[in-house]
Amino acid sequence: MRPTPPSTHHLLRIDSSSRVTGSYSRKLGDQFEHAWIKRFPAGTITRRDVALQSLPHIENTTIAGMFTPPEQHSSEMVAALVQSDTLIAELKAADTLLLTVPMYNFGVPSALKAWIDQITRIGHTFSFDGSNFGGLLKGKKAHVVIAYGAGGYAHGASFAAANFVEPYLKFLLAFLGFNEVITYNDEATNTNPAGIAASHAMITAQMETSLKGVTA
Ligand SMILES: Cc1cc2nc3c(=O)[nH]c(=O)nc-3n(C[C@H](O)[C@H](O)[C@H](O)COP(=O)(O)O)c2cc1C
Repeated sequence: MRPTPPSTHHLLRIDSSSRVTGSYSRKLGDQFEHAWIKRFPAGTITRRDVALQSLPHIENTTIAGMFTPPEQHSSEMVAALVQSDTLIAELKAADTLLLTVPMYNFGVPSALKAWIDQITRIGHTFSFDGSNFGGLLKGKKAHVVIAYGAGGYAHGASFAAANFVEPYLKFLLAFLGFNEVITYNDEATNTNPAGIAASHAMITAQMETSLKGVTA
């Protein structure tokens, strides 16, 4: 009998809620992680917490470095790009991305935006040939858990126009080349606490279903 080849499945989990206890996005992230590791017992998980360990915002030298050919980088540019290099390498090493995201003021937390600004980089995660953009993160899947304090954010619902989290992350990840972006929406965590158990049961079932289709 031939030995089973090692699994190439690699999950990168990024948490972004400032709440360390009582966070619904983190709780659902844990549930996803458990389901994922059950599905891929030999898989690897890398975790990054951008709320607990803040990332630097991109600065003048970071941007200059991003748009300067590497052979012309100054030592300051090299230093300013170290964080971006590290985060992009981490992202490229994974085949699956899990983002856990609370809605803050209708958008993503600034901690997550700092990560996005570091990883969205021309020539590394997207290309531009003078007329068209292309995503460079191919063959990857993203699972995005979003917790909202209020309800009505679903497509076509009363508060949909105020949802700058789900459409934004779906667009951004597709722009970067992700083949598939699956979102799990946990609404009304503040306005309808009695509905949380039912919402979580539904999301857990959605997670199981979306992982079923993945080949080992
Ligand atoms: C600073 C801040 C801003 C928030 N802004 C919104 C908002 O714009 N819309 C909303 O529905 N809920 C808002 N909420 C509620 C959170 O989205 C909700 O509590 C969610 O469960 C947070 O995710 P977590 O449970 O993972 O921490 C806000 C909460 C905080 C702390």
